Amino acid sequence: MFTHTSAPSVGILGLGFLGKILTGELNYSTDSWGTWHEIPPQERELPVFHFDWADENSWKELPETAATLVLTIPPLLKNPEAETERLQLWGTWMRQNRPQLKSLIYVSTTGVYPKRNGIWTENSKFEADTLSGKLRLLTEKILSHYFSLQVVRAGGIYGSGRGIDFRLKSGKPIPLSSTLVHRIHVQDLARIILHLVEHPESATCVNAVDLEAKPSWQVARWLIENRNDLTQEMFPESAEFSSSLPGTPQRVISNQRLRKLGITLRYPTFRQGME
Ligand SMILES: NC(=O)c1ccc[n+]([C@@H]2O[C@H](COP(=O)([O-])OP(=O)(O)OC[C@H]3O[C@@H](n4cnc5c(N)ncnc54)[C@H](OP(=O)(O)O)[C@@H]3O)[C@@H](O)[C@H]2O)c1
Repeated sequence: MFTHTSAPSVGILGLGFLGKILTGELNYSTDSWGTWHEIPPQERELPVFHFDWADENSWKELPETAATLVLTIPPLLKNPEAETERLQLWGTWMRQNRPQLKSLIYVSTTGVYPKRNGIWTENSKFEADTLSGKLRLLTEKILSHYFSLQVVRAGGIYGSGRGIDFRLKSGKPIPLSSTLVHRIHVQDLARIILHLVEHPESATCVNAVDLEAKPSWQVARWLIENRNDLTQEMFPESAEFSSSLPGTPQRVISNQRLRKLGITLRYPTFRQGME
């Protein structure tokens, strides 16, 4: 739990999968709040209100009291120029109309790093090689002009009903690739974000990835071997694989900075998170 009474309030933009878990980690004695978009949340553990990031008329709904914003909403437009313009408009509006909301934690993704082998750190110089990576990078850059910004580049978020175990159970395909998948349990991601709220000076950008990246098929095979509720029939192909699948088995996202922050992960690897 987030228990420091002197800690700033938190305003969660987007009460989706992560946003809902974040609310569970907050101390409700603070004046924290969250926003919903399509459907109001049924369980209201903190004050919530409607907010549409795409609609300028909706921005005035944001409170005028100080809070650290946590932006969980993904890029809205697929066209980089249009998204740049939209973000600049919002940033300008926020600076003029909500100067109390100047601290922002942006939930980005490790998908910004190129799909090439190498060790990728927060300080690496690179260009994104996918449209979604480009949109994320430009969002990080533009937001930094308008806010006191901390970026969390999250790996694949799992836990609470999401992950390879749930894919196996529901008969969804398991990606057949040797690419390392870097993951983070949703509760650990929430705790990393709240650590940054409490310690704004600790990092301007951090990769949120756990201690053991593995290709999806290896996680699936481990699950079948270790969980009684999962069977070989759910992933019959796994028996045939060696490590010769196509992909980028040496693309490593560094977790050194995260480890230096001193946060002990509740789920250091998928083994604890999916046990
Ligand atoms: N899933 C992963 O493995 C992963 C990995 C790395 C990073 N991420 C990123 O991390 C962030 C949090 O992930 P998540 O799984 O919690 O995502 P999520 O469940 O899709 O939550 C995103 C939230 O943004 C809201 N939203 C969308 N458009 C909006 C708009 N125009 N105005 C206001 N709110 C809007 C959504 O509300 P509605 O649903 O009501 O529209 C939803 O509550 C996302 O940006 C995601 O892309 C995800």
